[in-house]
Amino acid sequence: MLEARTMQVEDLPAVLAIERMAYSHPWSRGIFEDCLAIGSYECRVYEEQGVLCAYSIMSWGAGEAHLLNICVHPERQGRGLGREVLQQVIERARKKAADTLFLEVRVSNSGARRLYESAGFNEIGQRFDYYPAAQGREDALVFALPLL
Ligand SMILES: CC(C)(COP(=O)(O)OP(=O)(O)OC[C@H]1O[C@@H](n2cnc3c(N)ncnc32)[C@H](O)[C@@H]1OP(=O)(O)O)[C@@H](O)C(=O)NCCC(=O)NCCS
Repeated sequence: MLEARTMQVEDLPAVLAIERMAYSHPWSRGIFEDCLAIGSYECRVYEEQGVLCAYSIMSWGAGEAHLLNICVHPERQGRGLGREVLQQVIERARKKAADTLFLEVRVSNSGARRLYESAGFNEIGQRFDYYPAAQGREDALVFALPLL
């Protein structure tokens, strides 16, 4: 059972430790601090028995919500937590009256792509060379979920 709450600046050491384990090109502490400072970003952490094991960052405005980051601790992946976090994000985007939830994902991130497709997201576009990669750049796929 996941307990969700708003991310605080005090959570950043734990969040950054997960971010650095989970991503080849992790966000910096400064990016998370900026997200916390922007009033229209919703930064959430998820705990299992008091241990921070996942987080999500969503922005919204003008009827659109964007899922900017969703991440589960690598040791706790593959147990349904990512799906649970995504469902909570979708519900909160609906409550904010967003009509669409957008996100970008690396072309190579087949696990995340499968999660989004099974949650009802549609692939609506591709951004060329969007992400840094081990060698050169990598395209992003853009996914959208209608919420109305
Ligand atoms: C993507 C991520 C959030 C998924 O979280 P998770 O807890 O591992 O996912 P779940 O256990 O809830 O699995 C949900 C679905 O995702 C898909 N999936 C997740 N990991 C997968 C993998 N390694 N291979 C194939 N499918 C996978 C499956 O469809 C799975 O459903 P199923 O178990 O019914 O087959 C997690 O892997 C993660 O944090 N990855 C690193 C950060 C990242 O890439 N975030 C997304 C950026 S766009």
